[in-house]
Amino acid sequence: MRFSRRIDAVPPYLFAELERKISEKRREGIDVISLGIGDPDLPTPQVVIEALAEAARDPSTHQYPTNHGSDDFRAAVAGFYGDRFGVELDVDSEIVPALGGKEAVGHIALVLLDPGGLALAPDPGYPPYTSGPLFAGAEPYYLPLEERNGFLPDLDAIREDAAARANVLFLNYPNNPTGAVVAPGYFERAVEFARANDLVVVHDNAYSEICFDGYRAPSFLETPGAKDVGVEIFSPSKGWNMTGWRSGVVAGNAEVVERYRQLKTNLDSGMFEAVQRATIAALTEARDFPREMSEVYRRRRDVVAEALAAIGLEVDPPRATPYFWVRVPEGHTSETFTELVLEQAAVVVAPGPSYGPSGEGFVRLSLTVADDRLEEAVRRIETSLRSGIITA
Ligand SMILES: Cc1ncc(COP(=O)(O)O)c(C=O)c1O
Repeated sequence: MRFSRRIDAVPPYLFAELERKISEKRREGIDVISLGIGDPDLPTPQVVIEALAEAARDPSTHQYPTNHGSDDFRAAVAGFYGDRFGVELDVDSEIVPALGGKEAVGHIALVLLDPGGLALAPDPGYPPYTSGPLFAGAEPYYLPLEERNGFLPDLDAIREDAAARANVLFLNYPNNPTGAVVAPGYFERAVEFARANDLVVVHDNAYSEICFDGYRAPSFLETPGAKDVGVEIFSPSKGWNMTGWRSGVVAGNAEVVERYRQLKTNLDSGMFEAVQRATIAALTEARDFPREMSEVYRRRRDVVAEALAAIGLEVDPPRATPYFWVRVPEGHTSETFTELVLEQAAVVVAPGPSYGPSGEGFVRLSLTVADDRLEEAVRRIETSLRSGIITA
């Protein structure tokens, strides 16, 4: 059998490999705790579940939806963006449903990139910022996220020829995997950069609702001029524990929104009307829910921060996202540390380089497991370190 070059160009999806390792261990009867995947462990809010159930009983939801999304869906998104971010969105032209943020990232790459094109992609970064461009036949140009720059890409360090060739800049704050938040003025600089280089900013706002210590993440669309140069992808997945529901939205520049919708009319038939109604319930009736979730992650973050510091690991607790980006102990690579933690503590962490070459020297720990399991996981890592199996 022959397969396309585009599918060969993309390495196996990171979490597919992690899932394989976890099931292998579990088959051996080992109690593995996975801190590898950022998938909320707690249920979707009741009001959202009820909205879905009720909508599913209504036969008018059973037919093909439109790729525009219902008027009510777009109005709920506009209402949420207005109240939460102070961003005004035109309900007819500046909002379109996405089947989750991931789908939006991948398909927006197809909308914006030609074979031979270039995408500016954070490194480390959410893997679809590189696989999306590769599927489009384009190339990712890595933007290293360095600790000394607050894990923000240095836009001035981008080669001139690359900036001229690129047609998209992916950004994502609060950031996966580093947990970093955007610095004041950075989005303004990104708008300027996009204007100067005639490229589109795609801001992936998957984590704005998971924030701690009084921090409230902004939307890129709050930035003056943002809608002239880009779009934002928003998703209820993390804030409302809705990863399985496949809901999201692309909002902002009307031309990008329309081209993305046009592409999708050829690839999918829109978001199930019942899921649209459930998302409306999340955005209108469960607005406080992400704050409750943030408090759960804040508590877990503090448990992990204390445990990691106690065993001599360098920690910088995140102000947003359910992730800890941790530097591995001296003498280890991300891979050797990940292997050791799996073998000696039966704990899965995500090795930094899975998110791009600049992730070397780091691992990502996810706080999306129950408190007692998280405590058990850090205890096991601590025991392995103290016993000298892993040296810090
Ligand atoms: C940065 C980032 N964007 C998007 C997503 C995907 O979210 P969704 O469930 O909406 O596809 C994730 C999921 O982990 C993510 O980390």
